[in-house]
Parts: sequence; structure tokens; C-alpha cells
Amino acid sequence: MTSRLELSGLHTHYETSHILFDVSLEVNQGESVCLLGRNGAGKTTTLKSIMSLAAASAGSIRFNGVDLVGLAPYEIARLGVGYVPDDRLIFPDLTVRENLEIAIKPGAAGAPAQWSVARIYELFPVLLPLDARLGGYLSGGEQQMLTIGRTLMGNPSLLLLDEPVEGVAPVVVQELTRQIKALKTMGLTILFAEQNMHFASEISDRAYVIEKGRIRFHGTMRELAANEEVQKKYLMI
Ligand SMILES: Nc1ncnc2c1ncn2[C@@H]1O[C@H](COP(=O)(O)OP(=O)(O)OP(=O)(O)O)[C@@H](O)[C@H]1O
Ligand SMILES: [Mg+2]
Repeated sequence: MTSRLELSGLHTHYETSHILFDVSLEVNQGESVCLLGRNGAGKTTTLKSIMSLAAASAGSIRFNGVDLVGLAPYEIARLGVGYVPDDRLIFPDLTVRENLEIAIKPGAAGAPAQWSVARIYELFPVLLPLDARLGGYLSGGEQQMLTIGRTLMGNPSLLLLDEPVEGVAPVVVQELTRQIKALKTMGLTILFAEQNMHFASEISDRAYVIEKGRIRFHGTMRELAANEEVQKKYLMI
């Protein structure tokens, strides 16, 4: 069971706007790595590039040795990459259970867990009593858990999370912190986008700091915590 992601010299454009410049990063099996940056820094674009939802114009994106550039998003998902977008696109007219069941997919070889609705409810106990509730009636935090749960139903070995705690209540942030740690303990490899260094340091081993589409720093969370210059220049609001 391995899961390894490596971006090298990645450039991404939206039409004529050049957004990512020479982005290189790697996430090794079992690691939880965060991509930190302010609004508009290029975090979402990086995750979308990995999923082929934004087209890389140069560079390589390798997942377990396979170059993802040019593959379709569903092919990348089939290789074991699970993407949790920032817009929580759950189906409002389906129940919580239906939202999960609709996403069932066999995992790629090497997926660390075989997920079921019951296992998703074990990980996110607040969803259990909401089993028959329509997705449209969930709170922001519940929707976020359901979105993550839905992606897990595809049995990914690498999870891409785009600002998983944005806009959720502090008590939900604590819960999500515990749950994401549990996923890491299960062997899932995680890359997540985040603006908040405090939350990031709770769940990640290493960080890449992105600004204006370029990686400005990479190191351990401890190294980042000790580097006030990088924090001031690229992370403070
Ligand atoms: N579809 C698009 N077309 C053109 N430009 C875009 C598009 N999506 C994003 N951009 C631009 O690309 C840059 C990077 O945006 P991106 O969404 O990757 O940032 P982000 O770090 O995820 O920010 P946030 O914290 O606000 O989510 C921004 O300047 C943004 O305006
Ligand atoms: Mg974003």
C-alpha cells in the first residue's frame, strides 16, 4: 500500500491568466501536508490541477509514478485520489445516506480502507441520527462531514481537502481535527489547503507556503512556527 504525490515545475493557466508558477511539492505515503496561503494565493488551483479540473500548461504531476497530466478527472479518481472541494456540493434533495451511497466506488489497489455507510457514521457520529435527513437541511459542519464522507466512499488512498474547516463553528473545527487525525492514523495520505496556521499545525507534519502562485517556503510545521518572517510576509492578513 503506497500513495505518493509529486508535483514538479507545475504551471497552470486559466485562459490567458498565468496562475501557478513552477510549483513543486511532494506528499509521501502516510503524510499529512498542508498548502498554506492567503486568499487568492493559488491553493485551490493547485488542488484542481492535480485533479485535472484546471489544466497544467507545463510540469508534471505524478501519483504513484503515473503522470496525471492529461488524464480525465474520473481517471484520476480511479487511481485513488479523492478530492473534497471547498464548495461542499452535496445533493440537497437526497438524504444523508443517499448522498453517501451514490458515491460508492471500489478503491484503487492499495486503498487503506474499505468504506461503508456504517463506517462513515463511526467516523462522523453526528451523521448517524441524520441518516434520513435531506442534505439541504444540514448545518455547515454537518455538510462538511458529509462531503468528506462521500469522498471516502470512493476508497481513496490520497485525500485532497480544500479548506475543510472554513466557515464552520469552533466546536466543529475540534471535531474535524480529531476525525482528520483518525484518517491519518488509518494510513490515508492527505494534502490539504488552509489559511489558518493554527489548524494546520494540529493535523499536518509539513507545510508548503504559497503566495501569488509560487511556493515561498517548505519545511516542517515546527520550522514554520519558528519562522516569523515567512509567517509575516506570506500568511498574516
Ligand atoms: N476560473 C478562474 N478563472 C480565472 N482566474 C481564476 C479562476 N479561478 C481562480 N482564479 C484566480 O486564480 C488565483 C488563485 O486562485 P485560487 O482559487 O487558487 O486561490 P486560493 O488560494 O484557493 O484562495 P482562497 O483562499 O480564496 O480559496 C486568484 O487570483 C484567482 O482570482
Ligand atoms: Mg481556495
